[in-house]
Amino acid sequence: MKSLFDLPGDDAERILELRREILRHDRLYYVEARPVISDREYDQLLDELMHLESAHPELVTPDSPTQRVGGEPIGTFETVTHSVPMLSLANTYSREEVEDFDRRVRQALEGASPRYVCELKYDGVAMSLTYRNGLMVQAATRGDGEKGDNVTANVRTIRAVPLRLELPDIQTATVRGEVYMLTETFLEINRLAEANDEKVFANPRNLTAGTLKQKNPKAVAKRRLEFVAYWLDTQDVTLESHSANIDLLKKMGLPTSPATAMCDSVEQVLEFLAEWDERRFELPFQIDGVVIKVDSLRQQQELGSVARSPRWAIAYKYEAKKAQSVLRDITLQVGRTGVVTPVAELTPTLLAGSTISRATLHNEDYVRDLDLCIGDTVVIEKGGDVIPKVSAVVRELRPPTVERWHMPHVCPCPRQAHIHRPEGNAQWFCNDARCPWQLRRTLEHFASRDAMDIDGLGQKAIEQFIEAGLLTSIADIYRLSERSDAILMLERWAPKSLQRLIDGINASKQQPFERVLFALGIRFVGEGVAKILAKNFPSIDALISATREQLTSVNEIGDSIAESILSYLAEDDNRTLIEALRLAGLRMESDQPLATSNEFAGMTFVFTGEMTTMTRREAEEMVEQRGGKASGSVSKKTSYVVAGQAAGSKLAKAQELGVSVLTEEEFRRMITSPDSN
Ligand code: IVH
Repeated sequence: MKSLFDLPGDDAERILELRREILRHDRLYYVEARPVISDREYDQLLDELMHLESAHPELVTPDSPTQRVGGEPIGTFETVTHSVPMLSLANTYSREEVEDFDRRVRQALEGASPRYVCELKYDGVAMSLTYRNGLMVQAATRGDGEKGDNVTANVRTIRAVPLRLELPDIQTATVRGEVYMLTETFLEINRLAEANDEKVFANPRNLTAGTLKQKNPKAVAKRRLEFVAYWLDTQDVTLESHSANIDLLKKMGLPTSPATAMCDSVEQVLEFLAEWDERRFELPFQIDGVVIKVDSLRQQQELGSVARSPRWAIAYKYEAKKAQSVLRDITLQVGRTGVVTPVAELTPTLLAGSTISRATLHNEDYVRDLDLCIGDTVVIEKGGDVIPKVSAVVRELRPPTVERWHMPHVCPCPRQAHIHRPEGNAQWFCNDARCPWQLRRTLEHFASRDAMDIDGLGQKAIEQFIEAGLLTSIADIYRLSERSDAILMLERWAPKSLQRLIDGINASKQQPFERVLFALGIRFVGEGVAKILAKNFPSIDALISATREQLTSVNEIGDSIAESILSYLAEDDNRTLIEALRLAGLRMESDQPLATSNEFAGMTFVFTGEMTTMTRREAEEMVEQRGGKASGSVSKKTSYVVAGQAAGSKLAKAQELGVSVLTEEEFRRMITSPDSN
């Protein structure tokens, strides 16, 4: 058999070089949280490697990054026995119980003082990885703790899981950790599912569990799962503490939790618990508590375990945030695609730091199953589920006379078209092509901050313009400047506000192509998909002429997205709209790669507080265009925290960690004269 070393030519060398390079970037991204290249450049490296490997299939090795994309479908998951049983943790819910735990530990250690490590308790699915000869050979779920499912093919697709360990000293190891999903990824997948009338998942954990059970690894690869390691067992070195094991895991190339604390007293433990109870909503992923572990491995052994739970560790669980409110009314909301959804109108109630006055009720059946009546006192929740929801009715507080609610069979808009619920479908739909509410949502989406970001064209203006007949489609936005007289007749409009609107509309013509694609509101084309499309089909014409096969050959584009794009572009009305927008001067071609310079390469910026001369998003884009990374949370690796007005806990954290803090003005200067830093 040919090996890498006796193959003539440069290809074999380049293959090795590319693998090394990709591995380096995986590490920078997942372990060190400081990527130095854009996603686009990363994909180019991977593309080149795939291309070379397909020309030399004999050189493909199991640890090549190309092997992550997902193999053949799996029949059933084989059952495997864990080399060391996978224990679970006893849960506690109060400070007193944590103090009890500390007392028990001290008693069992007969006076010796424990040092504790506090870690975030990731809310995902436990996973045990086996490495042999440095290679990841098995990934298994917890199952009953003794035996779990072999889900190796699925876990291989997770980019954060190294296929080969980076530390030559460690060849054989069992690594345990949590497979989880970023909240943003979860929301995007759910939005797609909802629009497609597919099952919507309650929280990122359920979606992660469902994904790992998929029989098709290619589908798993598209779900962007993450991994964090929290336990190591290896005979190759002897270490004395859990924290040393965690440091070793990092050196082996595994991502570990960014927030941990070493605590010499239970008071310090309680401080960490309180800090993260407040701050957990700042994290880009979900946690359901904190894990407290005795650091010394010798002491861990001394403490042992009882009934499948170690006596050296405990989980402190945060309560799902709940509050009571009164259901004042149930209204209907019409989405861009015509889905009609019931919405709970509540007395404004403070819940986990924000005031909630509306919550989704999903669909007609959800309201019926809860037996909701107008006037009821209800429980609202915001926990792992991210979006506030009405989870229960407090029956004891039901007033003597209440009104039962029935799903109206007409659209809530003034045209009141009949709505319908297709057989076997949970949703009602409005098919009225001229439904002003759908138009309103379409326009709101188009003008919104993350789409075309049109200053002056907010909800209220859109509503007025639709009512006055000035807006009947997206294209009309770019004709508004010819309708000045009509606009000035409307309430609230004066020459100054009109000028602001016209400037906003003109400025939007400079938005990049990917934003235009997102703004069009094509079903399933969210911000992420729009970016991917713009990268692979760099102009609208390239996209219009793309075949189904060309679309689905892009890794993240599945059948339903492709179908939606094709049918959108096949509609005459949509093609006319695109031409009108092109004529108006909107960008229909992508013009530049993500990074335009590298002066911020390797730097991470965190923006906090209110900015006055730019939006946070604009600031983040400026960083990305210079090859830097914008992040939502502060760590030791953060290069700069830019603090706007009323900056809060992130600023405090930066000061605590000694991270450099810039004012908005200083950041501006850095952007305009990069050499001054
Ligand atoms: S340690 C024997 N650390 O919580 C110790 N678990 O029952 C095993 N989890 O099954 C767990 N984050 O799935 C540990 N930093 C962390 C964790 C963590 C999440 C999960 C894990 C475990 C469950 C506790």
